[in-house]
Amino acid sequence: MKYVHIGLIGCGSISESHLKAYAANPLVKLVAVCDLKPERAQAIAERYQIPHTYTDYRELLANPEIEAVSICTWNNSHAEISIAALQAGKNVLCEKPLCKTVEEALEIEQAVRQSGKLLQVGYVRRHASNIEVLKRFIDAGDLGEIYYAKASLVRRLGNPGGWFADRERSGGGPLIDIGVHVIDLCWYLMGKPKAVSVSGNTYSKLGNRSNIENYDFYQAADYDASKNTVEDMANALVRFENGASLMVDVSFSLHARTDSAQVSIFGDRGGAEIEPKLSIATEQHNTIINIDPQITRPGFDFQDSFNREIHHFVDNCLGKSQNICPVEDGVEMIKILNAIYRSAAEGREIRLDGEDTNATEQ
Ligand SMILES: NC(=O)c1ccc[n+]([C@@H]2O[C@H](COP(=O)([O-])OP(=O)(O)OC[C@H]3O[C@@H](n4cnc5c(N)ncnc54)[C@H](O)[C@@H]3O)[C@@H](O)[C@H]2O)c1
Repeated sequence: MKYVHIGLIGCGSISESHLKAYAANPLVKLVAVCDLKPERAQAIAERYQIPHTYTDYRELLANPEIEAVSICTWNNSHAEISIAALQAGKNVLCEKPLCKTVEEALEIEQAVRQSGKLLQVGYVRRHASNIEVLKRFIDAGDLGEIYYAKASLVRRLGNPGGWFADRERSGGGPLIDIGVHVIDLCWYLMGKPKAVSVSGNTYSKLGNRSNIENYDFYQAADYDASKNTVEDMANALVRFENGASLMVDVSFSLHARTDSAQVSIFGDRGGAEIEPKLSIATEQHNTIINIDPQITRPGFDFQDSFNREIHHFVDNCLGKSQNICPVEDGVEMIKILNAIYRSAAEGREIRLDGEDTNATEQ
């Protein structure tokens, strides 16, 4: 039996989802983990019976047994570690977002080309089983031409603090952290049209709301509310070359009555609601009909989607499948996200088709 020998870098919150998925995959041997904090790497190694631990990712990459790595570190190190891993001859699964800037994204893309190795961007939502089902309907033409998408992920109290709230390490707030998931998902389902312009707004009105009591929320492994340099919320309109458009709004802090997740796409033959759960709208015989696919997971199932993402990565490493989240898709998303931040900062629409020079720089 051919195994894939895995190293994991960054042993914080999301690493558990990767490790559970690797541990459940019979084609995987977990070889090493690495974290800046030795006790964190050690605890994970003990829990998953992983033989090697490191605090310097370069030492992990120097281990010849390791063929592929999961990068689960802060966003500011994704580019450096991805490039080093590719140059060391490892295949890479890099958590979203691919990196912070367009310049970094292009460097990673070049490293993929030069190394001939694989880089899969951690767009976990693409792997959700309801998305695979919907993709079949889309590919069969059941939705027709998809010309509009609407994505909203609202957290009223959801700034995870720590590095997430430090723009230097994260690259931004809810837009780059959770917006990336739903913008990518819509873009993927729309057939990856070329973005030509974006118009965006960001707001920093409420701060991280660390004053709120008696309400639990997601916190980074090293939660610290003392620093917050990211936006509370962002909204944007993205226009595509084929005339399609995407509207998005996302927040860490907002005076909303509830948290909510709503993602929909609309075509000229049918539409689909993706969040909170998959449902398709169309018409037949002059009658509007809603189709509710009878599937085990009609909504986004977090761990199941990670299991599927990692199953795909392992199959890609073994040459059994074609990477559905290539580096180019990471580059395109960083261009869109950075242009939204720039649009918000400059208070104008930013063109991505060449009219705005340096349009993609933050
Ligand atoms: N796909 C998803 O749904 C999802 C969900 C949460 C987080 N993420 C992504 O996963 C990554 C990590 O997020 P998290 O929530 O686990 O954060 P976290 O703070 O809980 O964990 C990050 C870990 O990385 C370690 N680290 C940072 N830089 C390092 C370096 N250079 N070398 C070794 N270790 C390093 C830190 O010490 C920490 O233990 C981020 O890129 C985030 O965007 C993805």
